[in-house]
Amino acid sequence: MDLKTIVSQMTLEEKAGMCSGRDFWRLKTVERLGVPEVMMSDGPHGLRKQEEDVDHLGEEDSNVAVCFPAACATACSFDRALLRRLGETLGDECQAEGVSVLLGPAVNIKRSPLCGRNFEYFSEDPCLTGELAAAYIQGVQSRHVGTSIKHFAANNQETRRMSVSAEIDERTLREIYLAGFETAVKKAQPWTVMCSYNRINGVYSSENKKLLTDILRGEWGFDGYVVSDWAATDDRVEGLRAGLDLEMPAGTGDTDREIVEAVRSGRLEERVLDGAVERILRRVFEYWENRRGGEKQHEAHHAVSREIAERCAVLLKNEGGVLPLRRGAKAALIGLFAKEPRYQGGGSSHIHPYRVAGAAEWMPELPYAQGYTLDDSLDEARIAEAVALAQGCEVAVVFAGLPEPYESEGRDRAHMRLPENQNELIRRVAQAQPNTVVVLHNGSPVEMPWAGQVKGILELYLGGEAVGEAAARLLYGDANPSGKLAETLPLRLEDNPSYLNFPGDDRKVEYREGVFVGYRYYDTKKMAVQFPFGHGLSYTTFEYSGLRLSAAEIPEDGTLTVTLQVKNTGAVAGEEAVQLYVAPPACGVPRPEKELRGFEKVALAPGEEKTVSFTLGRRAFAYYSERMQDWAVAPGAYTVEIGASSRDIRLAQRVLVRAEPLPAGPVTQNTVLNDRPDLEKMAPVLEPFFRNLWETLHLPEGRQAGERRWISSIPLRAMRSFYSLRSEDLEKLVADLNAAVRKEGE
Ligand code: BGC
Repeated sequence: MDLKTIVSQMTLEEKAGMCSGRDFWRLKTVERLGVPEVMMSDGPHGLRKQEEDVDHLGEEDSNVAVCFPAACATACSFDRALLRRLGETLGDECQAEGVSVLLGPAVNIKRSPLCGRNFEYFSEDPCLTGELAAAYIQGVQSRHVGTSIKHFAANNQETRRMSVSAEIDERTLREIYLAGFETAVKKAQPWTVMCSYNRINGVYSSENKKLLTDILRGEWGFDGYVVSDWAATDDRVEGLRAGLDLEMPAGTGDTDREIVEAVRSGRLEERVLDGAVERILRRVFEYWENRRGGEKQHEAHHAVSREIAERCAVLLKNEGGVLPLRRGAKAALIGLFAKEPRYQGGGSSHIHPYRVAGAAEWMPELPYAQGYTLDDSLDEARIAEAVALAQGCEVAVVFAGLPEPYESEGRDRAHMRLPENQNELIRRVAQAQPNTVVVLHNGSPVEMPWAGQVKGILELYLGGEAVGEAAARLLYGDANPSGKLAETLPLRLEDNPSYLNFPGDDRKVEYREGVFVGYRYYDTKKMAVQFPFGHGLSYTTFEYSGLRLSAAEIPEDGTLTVTLQVKNTGAVAGEEAVQLYVAPPACGVPRPEKELRGFEKVALAPGEEKTVSFTLGRRAFAYYSERMQDWAVAPGAYTVEIGASSRDIRLAQRVLVRAEPLPAGPVTQNTVLNDRPDLEKMAPVLEPFFRNLWETLHLPEGRQAGERRWISSIPLRAMRSFYSLRSEDLEKLVADLNAAVRKEGE
């Protein structure tokens, strides 16, 4: 398809029209040139295809589709292959439904547990986020259907999401909030990127040239088109100039006319418009020429959804091996969610599911008591019934979690607690029955005041429509939990690093915790948490051994290969998510104690051992230097840590990374000597200078070292006041130091 020819044959009006939707979900057509009609749908964990009544908050109905586990759950798989398979399955569904672009994955970082959309997002960590998003994108796009990675960028809260300015320093933006997008774009080239509603440091994402053009296209090489989140455009022409190609959904036509006028008046270069149209058309035709339709496969995909749910489950606690349940054990099922599971979140991702059945339906042999209602009221009679049932059994399994109104697109949670009627039920059941297990359905962390009183906790997050069957299989040990937490579960909301600055005021939200998000904060501060990042148990056990680094020392642009062995030392088959963290040396920049730089999921039969390997490049050691406006590696000894969680490091070894210290810039009168990485090079100037100074001051030898330490910690100019240093001598010192630094550096 010769796109340039098509674009050259389009009128100015047709081109402007191509840059906004025809309706809520479709793009415009240009019949005379053979530009076909294509449509998009939400996303991300199932298809919300709306034929007639449309909306972006999931209120109106959509075609029946399989609801897969949400990203809060799938992230816990730490499994690229699984995410790819989810993507492939969704891609097939899009083909069957005639959908050209699926609006996902959603990859914003979980800054606060309160964000109402955390259930749609993967993690508090950008490495995990980016890798899993890339796999999902590759899966969908292998079916010639596009993705729209969203929401670019820094959409980390729902409160005032359409107006708030996220105030973020450059380093934090790069290391935390952009890094996931960066990995996904570079590895998987999503067809489209969806810009966020909010502003970043005052500039709307929809007209943020630095974001949409300089970084996304210039630095990362993105070659698809940028689409606005629904109604995120502010100044349409400014947006186009900044790199926003497509405005969704359809407007009144006014913005198309603004584009036409801007070209006519010379405010907008026509080639900018042409570029946007070409990028949009390339993806339109890529879908159109490869569309193949196909049958809807609800039954088969329901089974895929169940398997994914099983592989994402996180066994948080399993004291005395209370799980798996013995078949034939007298177990009680307690809690409404055992019958009617909470399996998805509210808003634009809301799926009209194919088939939902609770765990109780898959465990019909077990007695059941409802225990609570979803209206938060304390129902003594129901609690008493549940307690009596629990007492008469060998083990009680309480299904608890967040009712849907608690977390949804469009609003943040007000607190991190479960409804009090559920907390009370769990406490009372646990008092009556020592073998109590809690199964959780929630899109983001909840406080667990009863964690010490129960023997088992199985976290299922929002596990999709088949979560009931998955729960039954997991509880009975037909499936072995292998998920790991993709976020830290703090003891209480107040512990979260964004607590004092979330959700900000009516204009802005300041990301004052900087790069210390999630475990980067909790672990660096060595704080007690409920469960750490990366934590998750199994019905079997794993032994880590034989850590080997390919070199003891590498140059900063070298690569390091890391290998180790993992062995299944238990009696059943299982999978383990092996995590690699890198701990940096002190380098004059505040850095997290360690950061996730790799992960691999390994499946092992009982007794089986496998070698796991990782390759680390420069970025694994780097931080973003604001001064250099680039990634920088500090020289020194880094520790490569292999863990079963961020707090369960099994193996560790050091590697020396050789790197040039950052150029320090010229010496000025305000220079503090101690802050110079090139202090050694200054010795030929400083030695005679200090000798001279001590002589002038008649300073006894015993005091000289202390005085020199003090002088090295203050701006050079302060010597004028403290030591009567003449201005001309100060100027000469600065000039000599600069000469010394330059000479040595040449
Ligand atoms: C959401 C997007 C979604 C779009 C279309 C917006 O409100 O933020 O994630 O894709 O609506 O439904």
